[in-house]
Amino acid sequence: MKSKDIKDLALIIFGASGDLTYRKLIPAVFDLYKQKSLPANFAVLGVARTSFTDDSFREKMKEGIRQFATAKDALDGELNEFCQKLHYLSINTEKEGDYAKVKERLDKLDKEADTGGNYIFYLSTPPSLYPLIPKYLASQGLNRQGNSFRRIIIEKPFGTDLKSAIELNSSLLENYEEDQIYRIDHYMGKETVQNLLVTRFANGIYEPLWNRNYIDHIEITAAESIGVENRGGYYDNSGALRDMVQNHLLQIVGLVAMEPPMSIDSVSIRNEKLKVFQALRPLSGEDVFKNVIRGQYTAANIKGKYAKGYREEKGVAPESRTETYLAMKLFIDNWRWGGVPFYVRTGKRLPTRVSEIVIHFKPAPQRLFPESVNLSDDNQLIIRVQPDEGILLKTNMKVPGSGFQTNTVNMDFHYSQLKDAYYLPEAYERLLLDCMTGDSTLYVRGDALEATWKFVQPLLDFWKDNPDAPLHGYPAGSWGPNVADDLIEGKDRHWRYPCKNLSDDGIYCEL
Ligand SMILES: NC(=O)c1ccc[n+]([C@@H]2O[C@H](COP(=O)([O-])OP(=O)(O)OC[C@H]3O[C@@H](n4cnc5c(N)ncnc54)[C@H](OP(=O)(O)O)[C@@H]3O)[C@@H](O)[C@H]2O)c1
Repeated sequence: MKSKDIKDLALIIFGASGDLTYRKLIPAVFDLYKQKSLPANFAVLGVARTSFTDDSFREKMKEGIRQFATAKDALDGELNEFCQKLHYLSINTEKEGDYAKVKERLDKLDKEADTGGNYIFYLSTPPSLYPLIPKYLASQGLNRQGNSFRRIIIEKPFGTDLKSAIELNSSLLENYEEDQIYRIDHYMGKETVQNLLVTRFANGIYEPLWNRNYIDHIEITAAESIGVENRGGYYDNSGALRDMVQNHLLQIVGLVAMEPPMSIDSVSIRNEKLKVFQALRPLSGEDVFKNVIRGQYTAANIKGKYAKGYREEKGVAPESRTETYLAMKLFIDNWRWGGVPFYVRTGKRLPTRVSEIVIHFKPAPQRLFPESVNLSDDNQLIIRVQPDEGILLKTNMKVPGSGFQTNTVNMDFHYSQLKDAYYLPEAYERLLLDCMTGDSTLYVRGDALEATWKFVQPLLDFWKDNPDAPLHGYPAGSWGPNVADDLIEGKDRHWRYPCKNLSDDGIYCEL
């Protein structure tokens, strides 16, 4: 997308003194600038309580760009020219009266930078401000669209349960139309996630197999090797279900499982994803026991170094029962997926950082080759979301020579193979650009958001009502509680382990 297709605009970041702005947002905007994707007339207004001048804000953002942008090696001249587009305003974000200053500054910026009154407001603040900032902006008329557009991007977490998500949606809809609201899920900005649509709907070979007749089960993993770092306080009130499953992992389930859309536009694609969420089989109390495994990492030695347990982390309650690992079996009750289990797992302090989707196909209907031939009954299509984005198909192949000895071979494609031919945008870069063009396809629609919360709410209720429900310890650096292995039923079925345990032992321990 080139700048001529995007209207001139100002990007207003609330929470501009924070970590996300520093590490992700401004580096992504700089990369867009380097790619010549920004409109000719463009400005950023950073807003927060911390006091900065335009110049001191620019200096701080330069540091962030130098560390985190893809184009971190840009010339000083380019960086300085870009930073002239950055401005800063300090207000008390919780005080309605201060929003007159935002309006005043934007009017001034429109005149100076010719941004045409088009605004994208990015909320990168604590979530308690998500209902307030849009309301206070509206009190200054900054929600009203005429010839210019007004859009809001909202970071996760969007609600902490079904009720709060509905309340937040309703409060936003008091002043904004749904098509002005962009709920960001950065997983949707990843190239391989979007490539799912192309893999499925631009190839004749996959879609005929993409159903209960040929697929045995589907695995979706999002593993992190880090712990809660300095976000213990936030995480302890959240946990893996809210932090990863309700949003990122269910969004991926939506793309994997949706029906072909009528066309490749935002309404059609999001309609189909919504139907998937509506077809998720609700989990009642008994199912939670059977189909959901919670874990929490415990202290361990990783390669000779002490790794803290979750309860020792800063900001975490010493008796915390927050899950840092979650594995679940879920079903989508529709014609395409009837009876096909989806196994979803995520965790912190696992052996490696990897997110991937594994489609396990059913075995061939008849085994022609003798038992002595070592055949894999499990053809897998692995879609690697991160790192080393790509796609891999595992099939049986005959080993050269007499007889029929076989081996499993991988047919693979790595996005890195294209890096000399194509530029690979970071997720925030892609998503920011989409919002600038008004394309909400990869953003989460309000009804889909509520549908995913509706699915996870019974789990939250169950754990609240049953505080003693099992929470399994797993040593930091292992693949989670061993009991999660039993979730996957059937001969020769098990989770795919892209790498081995890193801790000294993979012992199971009940907390
Ligand atoms: N960091 C990430 O990688 C990441 C990833 C996904 C989602 N998120 C979400 O994005 C949002 C921002 O994350 P972050 O990591 O940038 O957080 P952060 O470092 O704590 O920054 C929060 C920002 O909000 C501002 N703020 C405004 N009013 C505030 C108030 N009343 N109380 C506290 N802070 C206030 C803070 O600046 P002042 O104190 O100067 O006002 C600061 O700029 C959060 O909701 C987070 O959940 C972050």
